[in-house]
Amino acid sequence: METLIPSQTLGLTRRDFLRKGSLAGAGLVLGAPSILKAVSGPEAPSNMINVGFIGCGKQHEVLFNAMVNIPGIRYVAACDIMKDRVGGAYGRIRARFGYSPNRYLDAGDMLAKEKDLDAVIVSTPDFWHSPHTVMALQAGKNVYCEKMMANNIEGARAMVKAMKDSGKLCQIGHQRRSNPRYIYTLKELIQRHKICGRIVNANAHWNRAVSSSRDITAPARILPDKAMLAKYGFGREGEDMPVEELHRRFLNWRLYKDLSGGPISDLGAHQIDIFNWYFGARPKSVVASGGCDYFKDREHFDNVMCIFDYDTPEGGARAFYQVLTTTSAGGGYAESFMGTEGTIEISERSAYTKIYREPGSAPSWDPLVQQGWLKKAAAAGPADSSDAIASYASAAPEGFDLPGDLNEPPHQPHLANFFAAIRGEAKLNCDAEEALESEAPIYWVNPAAERNETIHFTEEHLHT
Ligand SMILES: NC(=O)c1ccc[n+]([C@@H]2O[C@H](COP(=O)([O-])OP(=O)(O)OC[C@H]3O[C@@H](n4cnc5c(N)ncnc54)[C@H](O)[C@@H]3O)[C@@H](O)[C@H]2O)c1
Repeated sequence: METLIPSQTLGLTRRDFLRKGSLAGAGLVLGAPSILKAVSGPEAPSNMINVGFIGCGKQHEVLFNAMVNIPGIRYVAACDIMKDRVGGAYGRIRARFGYSPNRYLDAGDMLAKEKDLDAVIVSTPDFWHSPHTVMALQAGKNVYCEKMMANNIEGARAMVKAMKDSGKLCQIGHQRRSNPRYIYTLKELIQRHKICGRIVNANAHWNRAVSSSRDITAPARILPDKAMLAKYGFGREGEDMPVEELHRRFLNWRLYKDLSGGPISDLGAHQIDIFNWYFGARPKSVVASGGCDYFKDREHFDNVMCIFDYDTPEGGARAFYQVLTTTSAGGGYAESFMGTEGTIEISERSAYTKIYREPGSAPSWDPLVQQGWLKKAAAAGPADSSDAIASYASAAPEGFDLPGDLNEPPHQPHLANFFAAIRGEAKLNCDAEEALESEAPIYWVNPAAERNETIHFTEEHLHT
């Protein structure tokens, strides 16, 4: 029989986690800005949130597919400098909802004409995030902008300022912040039940195969022309670039220093954010190493490893992070929090999530299993083998699993939190200031690796 255990932190019961598989309502607060007046449910005409998209590429599609499950949204406009992509967004909206959004090639034009927009979703390349977000906030719109906030820290700071000056909401797309599995793991397992004991190390990685890291290509006939790409900043000032190079920069903006922060910011942003969120602290320093080891024609390092040093509320700790774009083996992507009594390896993918109890130092977790906070994992094989030298090898830790899962697209809870905040029913889980608190150290990893020196953070490095 299942025992109901009220979760004080989340204001929800364990049964909610298990049954609904979602804590999208977690963190509800009263007194958040009420921008729209609720009449009778989210579908009431006066309670619909009018949304416009800026940037309709790959991630736009992911976000749209998550948003369609959220009631009360009307898709009013879509903008992309590439006709083919804005056409794709138009087609998706029409096919799903039967009405036609307005189409734009220029974001300024969309914001000037669409007076009734309540919210804008920005999923353009990183170097456009700050201009688009600032422009939309200044036009009085609420903004959901994808991570990494910007391609440089000054751009990210401008977003925080625009959010504060405008009084509008600005959520940054660190979707794990609203993922019930991540919230549950932090609030219940780490903070309340303290299953890890003292967390002394964290370790995260994103290992991506060469085959997934190759240049993106597309037929030239569907790509924006030279003038369009130059107008929207894909060239370099004062340089007359051949159209082939402009097309490569347009499709592969992640490879260029003036357009993005490279793999450490593109992939690392998600996971280094979790270090800072879970530790409840910002690092004191970073040491890093990286190289153009395999892809010789890229500006950014294709592989980077770095170590952050922390003073957490519980004491000193270190966090190691690696991003590889040349090998996928080793478990895809996950973040491990490694303590004296247990380790939680958590990932957006359930398959990469594992929990281990340290035999010998941790108390029994049987009561937690009986009460349903954890599930016992299937035995992983013999604890010791003939090649383990008794005095050197630790006994194999016992394996456990989370008791529930998220049964909706991983971006949906974060988007739902954004729309609930617009309705005044929730507080944003990751507004621009909170995001920059956490993202700021990431901007210093490439410089630390390039200069081959430890960067000791000061307020000047990290301020928002
Ligand atoms: N949160 C996540 O899990 C996640 C996952 C993937 C990507 N992302 C982020 O989403 C963003 C977009 O990534 P993507 O993979 O979709 O890239 P993409 O290149 O596929 O799409 C970007 C789109 O923006 C358009 N664009 C470029 N400049 C523009 C401008 N000035 N005005 C209007 N449109 C413009 C391009 O034509 C393109 O369609 C990036 O910031 C990326 O980091 C987040």
